[in-house]
Amino acid sequence: MSNVPWGSRSYSSDAMALLSICVAVALFWEAVSAASLGWCTRRGNGEGENISLGESRHMDVFRGIPFADIPGRFEKPKKHPGWDGVMEAMEYKPRCLQLNLRQTNTTGSQDCLYLNIWVPHQGAVASNLPVMVWIHGGAFLIESPIGDDNRYSGQEIADRGNVIVVTVGYRVGTLGFLSTGDSDLPGNYGLWDQQAAIAWVHRNIRSFGGDPDNITLFGESAGGASVNFQTLTPHNKGMIRRAISQSGVALCPWAIIKNPRKIAEQVARKVNCTTDSGMAACLKLTNPAQLTLAGTFNTTSSPDHPVVYNLVLAAVVDGDFLPDHPSNLFHNAADIDYIAGVNNMDGYFITRYDTLSIIRLFVNTDVADLKRLLAAYTRPKGIKGMEEAFSVYSADWSTTNVSEIVKKTAVDVGTDYIFLVPTQVALNLHAKHATTGRTYSYMFSEPNYKEGVEPPYTSWIEADHTDDLQYVFGKPFSSPQRYLPRHRNVSGYMIAYWTNFAKTGDPNQGGSEVPVTWPLFTSGDQYLEIHHNMSESYVHEKMRMRFVHFWTSVLPSLPSLPNATKSEETQIVSSNVSHTTI
Ligand SMILES: *[C@@H]1O[C@H](CO)[C@@H](O)[C@H](O)[C@H]1NC(C)=O
Ligand SMILES: *[C@@H]1O[C@H](CO)[C@@H](O)[C@H](O)[C@H]1NC(C)=O
Ligand SMILES: *[C@@H]1O[C@H](CO)[C@@H](O)[C@H](O)[C@H]1NC(C)=O
Ligand SMILES: *[C@@H]1O[C@H](CO)[C@@H](O)[C@H](O)[C@H]1NC(C)=O
Ligand SMILES: *[C@@H]1O[C@H](CO)[C@@H](O)[C@H](O)[C@H]1NC(C)=O
Ligand SMILES: *[C@@H]1O[C@H](CO)[C@@H](O)[C@H](O)[C@H]1NC(C)=O
Ligand SMILES: *[C@@H]1O[C@H](CO)[C@@H](O)[C@H](O)[C@H]1NC(C)=O
Ligand SMILES: *[C@@H]1O[C@H](CO)[C@@H](O)[C@H](O)[C@H]1NC(C)=O
Ligand SMILES: *[C@@H]1O[C@H](CO)[C@@H](O)[C@H](O)[C@H]1NC(C)=O
Ligand SMILES: *[C@@H]1O[C@H](CO)[C@@H](O)[C@H](O)[C@H]1NC(C)=O
Repeated sequence: MSNVPWGSRSYSSDAMALLSICVAVALFWEAVSAASLGWCTRRGNGEGENISLGESRHMDVFRGIPFADIPGRFEKPKKHPGWDGVMEAMEYKPRCLQLNLRQTNTTGSQDCLYLNIWVPHQGAVASNLPVMVWIHGGAFLIESPIGDDNRYSGQEIADRGNVIVVTVGYRVGTLGFLSTGDSDLPGNYGLWDQQAAIAWVHRNIRSFGGDPDNITLFGESAGGASVNFQTLTPHNKGMIRRAISQSGVALCPWAIIKNPRKIAEQVARKVNCTTDSGMAACLKLTNPAQLTLAGTFNTTSSPDHPVVYNLVLAAVVDGDFLPDHPSNLFHNAADIDYIAGVNNMDGYFITRYDTLSIIRLFVNTDVADLKRLLAAYTRPKGIKGMEEAFSVYSADWSTTNVSEIVKKTAVDVGTDYIFLVPTQVALNLHAKHATTGRTYSYMFSEPNYKEGVEPPYTSWIEADHTDDLQYVFGKPFSSPQRYLPRHRNVSGYMIAYWTNFAKTGDPNQGGSEVPVTWPLFTSGDQYLEIHHNMSESYVHEKMRMRFVHFWTSVLPSLPSLPNATKSEETQIVSSNVSHTTI
């Protein structure tokens, strides 16, 4: 009776009080047709906006519901104290304090641990609907749960798939991820925020018409990696049923920081803190905007110093949220269904920082620059690593040596190293440890719509990083004038696969028709290529096998240079990538 997590009152009196408030509130709401159905949770009641979508469909939108209190500096999120009366959840809340896009100032607030909910009512009032929780990307540095230009509005997914969509905020930048690698500043605060949001949804979504046993996480880039981290931590046991990682997994070379103390010291020096035993105390007292500005992303790069290594604020193995390296934690996801995939040119947006010539129309990219890039990614193995890599990546050139081939190869190298190969390793580890959990793999290849029209996109650019987002969130339907009919096809396909998966764990089943049956990854390393023209011929197997094999087997087996320290070691996980062949 007294074992209640939310306060000193006993369960029965709390529940009774809650019940009577809810009945009163519901009666009141019934008379107000412009209002939403509202909700009632242990910590308070509220109402959102009721949007009419036609004859027998309407949707409740709840904006800016707090799932935790204003967080303490470098601390785990705290419980929200609750509120009296009825909360009007009508406005999105500010994004978490972060750098502006030009990195000249900050924007947002430290009071940012809020979520937004879209609840579809189709014919009847929602009850027991599957729930999809979106974790946004932005390099663990920027972005918000709603995104610029309402990018992550859940309305189209919720309406077309008849699922509840939730988007959550979490701390980013130095305030979200600065760590000394020990108990002084343990790190991972942003991941704890996400975890608190998941726990909130699990506890409360029933009162919004959701099924707490049918929660699917989805996210892209740093959000895709976050989704993976949330399935690997022991702190979410029993709360997550399925997960989708788009263009990012926990094993990506940018997702885990190996030597966080070095970064913390750099930040400390920028804000005039000492780097001795007083460092953490000093950082805790530093003005939050100054601290945020001290975490700027260095975009100066070259093929010798690829920009991916400048992403220095991310997760750490802290012995708590992550008790071990992510590659050793996949047993925690054994009963979680998992989709992971990449865009076929995910590496373009980032590799163009390193090798500027790839975006210049009438300028060739030197083979020497490509070799420098490969040398950087294989550095611990010395010249031998670069030479082996080059021979793998240039093997097809004799037949197709046109000026674009070097540029495309540079993009492939970026795509493979930064996204694709780690994703294949994650899929294999998931499949290997799965008990009831199913595993699915995809490659998104719809050509960039700005192709040939808007620099820096040239005609050969297919699916760049983040290109999938507009289709998953149904933009071709909500902004039809900006798209062609074929874009509505690909958007419809993705929403159908994603929401079917959220309902049943099988992207092919759940009520929405799909163009092609997407086979399990475990049946011969099969994967689905997603494109507006997809047919049976878009099911493939063994994604980029030769290259995956190089990074996961050939390269790790080469001797490391005597001076290659552990922390410089190439971050690709060495593992038996395929459970079948390779
Ligand atoms: C929301 O609006 C629809 C009409 O669009 C209406 O049928 C429904 O009763 C409204 N819901 C509430 C709770 O008032
Ligand atoms: C930075 O932003 C704050 C608040 O938005 C504003 O008051 C301040 O003038 C800005 N500083 C600069 C240098 O632009
Ligand atoms: C650090 O100290 C220098 C020199 O005193 C000063 O110019 C600078 O503004 C200080 N930086 C911060 C973040 O306080
Ligand atoms: C940014 O990174 C480049 C190399 O990648 C380095 O030379 C430069 O010093 C860095 N700039 C800052 C401000 O840290
Ligand atoms: C590709 O062709 C160019 C000339 O068209 C040549 O200079 C270059 O060496 C060739 N590269 C390879 C790897 O064959
Ligand atoms: C879109 O899909 C429909 C069938 O669902 C098909 O008839 C049409 O040709 C497709 N359009 C494009 C542009 O692919
Ligand atoms: C999840 O949702 C689907 C669709 O509403 C339903 O069929 C299923 O029983 C729910 N529960 C579980 C545990 O999958
Ligand atoms: C679409 O698919 C058909 C046959 O499946 C093929 O002939 C055609 O080239 C494809 N078009 C594109 C743009 O991929
Ligand atoms: C390690 O040794 C190689 C040559 O053996 C050299 O090129 C490289 O600069 C050295 N790296 C460091 C960090 O000293
Ligand atoms: C790979 O598999 C072989 C044989 O199945 C095993 O001996 C080896 O330890 C495995 N390596 C890793 C890194 O798991």
